[in-house]
This record gives sequence, C-alpha cells and structure tokens, in this order.
Amino acid sequence: MVTLVTGATGTTGRRVVAALEADGVTVRRASRSASGFDWADPTTHDAAFDGADALYLMAPVGEADPLPVVGPVLRRALERGLRRVVLLSSSLIEPSSTGYGGLATLVREAPEWTVLRPSWFAQNFTGDHAVAAGVRAGRVVTATGRGRVPFVDADDIAAVAAVAVQGGAPGEQLITGPAALSYDEACDVAAEVVGHPVEHLSVSFGEFVDHQVAAGLPRPMAEVLAGLDELIAASAEDRITDVVERVTGRPPRPLDTVLRAALA
Ligand SMILES: NC(=O)c1ccc[n+]([C@@H]2O[C@H](COP(=O)([O-])OP(=O)(O)OC[C@H]3O[C@@H](n4cnc5c(N)ncnc54)[C@H](OP(=O)(O)O)[C@@H]3O)[C@@H](O)[C@H]2O)c1
Repeated sequence: MVTLVTGATGTTGRRVVAALEADGVTVRRASRSASGFDWADPTTHDAAFDGADALYLMAPVGEADPLPVVGPVLRRALERGLRRVVLLSSSLIEPSSTGYGGLATLVREAPEWTVLRPSWFAQNFTGDHAVAAGVRAGRVVTATGRGRVPFVDADDIAAVAAVAVQGGAPGEQLITGPAALSYDEACDVAAEVVGHPVEHLSVSFGEFVDHQVAAGLPRPMAEVLAGLDELIAASAEDRITDVVERVTGRPPRPLDTVLRAALA
C-alpha cells in the first residue's frame, strides 16, 4: 500500500506525513520542494500518482477553482487504481458550491472517500499567515464582524486525516476546535500570549478584498476569502463538533494552548 500525501511540506501535509509514519504507513511525499511534483506541470504528475492506493489531497493553494487543474489528474489516478481519497476542504464549503465544492463532488466518485471540512486553523495566528503577520504588527484585519470561529489545531486536523487515510473516518468530517471565538476574543488570546496589544479591525467586504489584493493575493481568491468572512459575520461558523474526539480518541486543543506552544 502506498499513500500519496500532496502538500507534504505544508501546515497540514507535514503533520499528516508524521502521523501516518508514526502508524507505520508507507508515505510518498509530493510537493515542489519535497519531490518536484508541481500541479502546474503535468509532466510531474504520473511519478507522484502511479501506484498510489490512497491519497491525501491538498489542492493548489491560491486557486479559487482548483477543479480544472486537479480534476484530470484525479480522474486518471482513479482509473488506474487509486482507491481512497481524503480531500482537505473547508468547513464553510458545501459540496454544492462551485470551486472547491466541485472538487468535493469529484472525490465522491472514489471507491472510498473522506472530505475533511476543518474550521479555521489555530496556526493562522502563527507562522506566515496574514493573521499571524497582523498579530506581530498588533492589528488583525478581517471582514468577520463579531462572528465566531471554532479555531482548530492543525495537529488535530492531521490526526483525523491520518485515520481517514487508513479508512477509519469515511464521509464528510466537519472538524472544529473546542470553542468558538470571535476575532476580538481570539486577538485577546493572542495578545496575552505574545505580550503586546493585538487589535481586531473588522472592515467591509470590499475593503477586505482591497486589503488582501494589496498584500499580494489574486483578486478572485481575495473575493473567495472575503465571502467566507461574510459568512462568519453571519454566524455560519458559530458551531462545534465532536469529530476530533470521536475519530482520534482525544479532545481538540484550545486556541490558547496552541498559541502558547508556538509563540510564547
Ligand atoms: N488556513 C485555514 O484556516 C484553513 C481552513 C480550512 C481549510 N483550509 C484549506 O487548507 C488548505 C491549505 O492547507 P495547508 O495550510 O496545509 O497548506 P500550506 O501550508 O499553504 O502548504 C501548501 C503545500 O502545497 C505545496 N504546493 C504549493 N504549490 C504547489 C504546486 N504548484 N504544486 C505542488 N505542490 C504545491 C507546498 O509545498 P511546495 O512549496 O514544496 O510545493 C506545501 O506543501 C487550503 O486549501 C485551504 O482552503 C485552510
């Protein structure tokens, strides 16, 4: 059995690799830096996908609609014996929506499939993410208003993914942390950990799109992210599930624990 992990150097992918290897699973890593695999270069696809039985699928980052790039590769791999596909999607992306939703629909054609729908990552407050840059600068900009988000630890997402890749968590899995917090509250948590004030500034949809385009994001992707913020503002993400505990046997880590471990 060979398990292909795409995005193998990323926030979730490297944790999925570690969790699978700890379980004794044979992992093939795919990313530009890990193996030369590039979604944008079809000549690199067969070497990654040939002979893979199971797949952790992380679609190209920054593509508002990954289906045109990922669809042909995935269809071909399914024709050639790929059996189980675990897609990293997002909590607010419904299978019926365009873009990522289209990819989730295709994944359901695999003999065995899981669609992981995690909420927003606690790790957005650390590392390279725009929110983390905002924490360092003392001001996080969103269009989420007072909407709440059940921030979830990427280690917990990877733990669920590793079980799913081994066939133990089929179907849709809506993955959340243990508590839903507004960005005002989350910024207070971050401020306490980093030891300086962190303000949350909530702006309009249009202002947030412009803010992200100015930071270097392509406009279609900025519009997707601003749309998700609007849904958060309308309370669509104010929910928690028991998926982490049910699938992994241990409770999800709260935001302050994750931030203390990473930032303090
Ligand atoms: N952040 C959140 O709050 C959140 C919440 C829910 C869902 N999500 C979803 O999570 C996904 C991001 O996952 P992540 O944080 O694990 O990713 P990430 O940390 O951004 O890592 C991206 C990975 O993809 C690889 N990669 C980038 N471009 C590539 C290309 N052209 N060809 C092949 N590989 C490429 C990178 O490695 P190389 O550079 O070596 O190629 C890296 O391993 C997004 O799809 C997002 O929708 C995020």
